[in-house]
Amino acid sequence: MAQSPETILIASDHAGFELKEKLEAELLSLGYAVLDLGPDSDASIDYADFAHPLAQRVSSGASQRGILLCGTGLGMSYTANRYPHVRAAIAWTPEIAALAREHNDANVLVLPARFVGDDDGRAILNAWLDTPFAGGRHARRVAKIERDEHREEDSRSHSMNDPHD
Ligand code: RB5
Repeated sequence: MAQSPETILIASDHAGFELKEKLEAELLSLGYAVLDLGPDSDASIDYADFAHPLAQRVSSGASQRGILLCGTGLGMSYTANRYPHVRAAIAWTPEIAALAREHNDANVLVLPARFVGDDDGRAILNAWLDTPFAGGRHARRVAKIERDEHREEDSRSHSMNDPHD
C-alpha cells in the first residue's frame, strides 16, 4: 500500500504571503501534502495570529513539521518558540537551514521573507526538508533546552542579584 504523504504546515503574515504561496507550490511538487493555515491574501495582519495555531499543532504532536514566514522571521520565531517541543529556526541560507536540522532538530523553519529571494527560499526549504538530525551529542544539547533545573538555576541567580530580595 502506498504511504500517504507527510503533511507540512505553512503560515505567514502579509510580508511572507507571496513567498508562502511559492513554497507551498514547491512542497506540492515535491510530493508533500500541505496544510495552509493562512492568510489567503497579503492584506496587513498580525504575525502572532498565524504563528500560534501552527505552533500549537507542532507542540501537541498533531503535526511533525511547519514553516512560518514574516518580514524578518523574528515575530514568527518569538511566538512559535514559546511552545514546548517547538524548535523554530530562522534560516536565511541553505547552510543555516541544514545546520538547524543537523544540530538543533528544528521542527519549524522560519523564513525572513523580506530578505530572501524566491530561489533562495526554495533552496533553504529543500535543505531543511532533506537534512536529518545528527543525534549523538546534539541530542544531549537539544534535550537540555527544556530542562526545568536550568530554569530554576536561572531564577535563583536572578534573585541573588536582586538587592530587594
Ligand atoms: C511586518 O511589517 C513585520 O513587522 C513582520 O513581517 C515581521 O518582520 C515581524 O517580526
